[in-house]
Parts: sequence; C-alpha cells; structure tokens
Amino acid sequence: MSKDTIIKVEDVSVSFWQNNVGVYSLKDLIVKRKNPFKNKRILNDINVEIFRGQSMGIVGRNGSGKSTLLRTIAGIIKPETGTITVNGTFAPILAIGAGLELELTGYENISMLLALYGTSNAATKQEAIDKISEFSELKSEVLRMPVKQYSSGMVARLAFSISLANDSDILIIDEVLAVGDQGFQAKCMEKIYEIKHKGKTILFVSHFPDDVMKICDTAILLENGYVTHAGPSRDICDNYKQLF
Ligand SMILES: Nc1ncnc2c1ncn2[C@@H]1O[C@H](COP(=O)(O)OP(=O)(O)O)[C@@H](O)[C@H]1O
Ligand SMILES: [Mg+2]
Repeated sequence: MSKDTIIKVEDVSVSFWQNNVGVYSLKDLIVKRKNPFKNKRILNDINVEIFRGQSMGIVGRNGSGKSTLLRTIAGIIKPETGTITVNGTFAPILAIGAGLELELTGYENISMLLALYGTSNAATKQEAIDKISEFSELKSEVLRMPVKQYSSGMVARLAFSISLANDSDILIIDEVLAVGDQGFQAKCMEKIYEIKHKGKTILFVSHFPDDVMKICDTAILLENGYVTHAGPSRDICDNYKQLF
C-alpha cells in the first residue's frame, strides 16, 4: 500500500440475508424445511484505492450498493470476503441523521458528537457549538427540542452542520444534499468544496452529476453491486447518464 493511500478496498464482497417471501407457515418451516431468507450478494469483488486528498464520487441507480459500500468502508458492515484498510479518521455521519440520538435535543446531539470527536476543552467546545448552530440556521428554540420532533429537512441541516464542522480526514456524504432546501444545499456544496481544497479526502454519493463533477476528481459507477466503470468523474458521469 502506497504511503499516500488512505482507503484501500481489496476484493470485497458483501451479502445480506433477505426475506422477500413474507412469513411461512410452521408446516412450511418445519415439515417442508423452507427457509424464507435468501442470501443475496450486494457487493461483488470491489477493488478501490483512494489517495489522501482525493475526492471520489460513487454513482449508480437506487439499490446498486452505494450506501452498503460506504458503510462497509466505514466499518459498520463486515465484508464477507476481502479486506479494507483505512489510514485515517471518519466524520461519522453517513446518511441523514445516522449518528444522531432522536431522544436528545439538537444541542445535546452537538455536544455528544463533539465529545466523540474529542473536543473536550470548554472554550473550544462552546465555539464549536456556536459555529455548528450558526451553519445549521436552526433557531435556538429548535435546537432545544428533541431531534425526534424535527422535520427531515431540519435533521439534514443538523447532521450536515455537525459533520462539516468535524476535522476528521475523511468526509462521507451519502445523498444528504437532496433533503435540505436549495439555499442550504448551495451552502453545503460551497463548504464541501472548501473542505476539498483543504486537502481532505471525500467520498461523495449523489444523483446529481454536476455536483459529482464539481467535487470529485474520480468516480466509480456501481451496477448491481459491481464496479462497472472507474475513472475521471466526467467520464463516469457520462456513463451514469447513459443508464437512463
Ligand atoms: N441491512 C440490509 N439487509 C438486507 N438487505 C439490505 C440491507 N441494506 C441494504 N440492502 C439491500 O442491498 C441493496 C443495495 O442497497 P444500498 O446499498 O442501500 O443501495 P444504494 O445506496 O445504491 O441505493 C438493496 O437491494 C437493498 O435492498
Ligand atoms: Mg443509498
């Protein structure tokens, strides 16, 4: 592995047990020994190498395996075969609200996640809380409410603001931009662009080719759990558009 490699995915396959036939009767289960669960391959022999400071886009139809690949890279899903080597730290918010505690208020979530990232110094922490709440544009009365009472747009604002304020090496963005309103999306894109120019590594899943081309140097196209194309993001976005 080269010293500039931050993520290396080698021959990774992932399968899930899925039940798509509903509930079997006891007779089917015991006498006929039918198993309602089928083992389904979601990712097949994935090989990806990402260098420090590189931004990689992941495009593909719904269900092609993009989120599963991100979760596997982040260590949330264990691959069935293959290895994943990561030489850096992650901002832990993968998708809208993942990582947020619904029973806690917005402010409590910010504090909790800041503590997880290692900001314990009180003055720095207050500064970080102020920055995050300002970026989110959520009113303080909203930030004092439990997150379970938020609209999906508010959850996206909070999740995004926390993950963008994070100083980890790798930023993972999984379609979250689709939720906020246009003003907030534009602001997030600007911020992601700024983070890219700071030399951070970004994994970016989006259905908007223009955004992928703006943020990512390279991209991969996933189809039914296979990487069918890999290369400069402009070429891969063309391949993606040809799917429809
Ligand atoms: N926890 C799970 N258990 C069973 N099947 C899953 C699970 N998570 C995802 N899948 C299946 O894996 C496939 C890929 O899903 P996903 O990675 O979310 O796709 P994408 O992000 O590209 O839309 C889908 O067929 C989905 O139903
Ligand atoms: Mg997804």
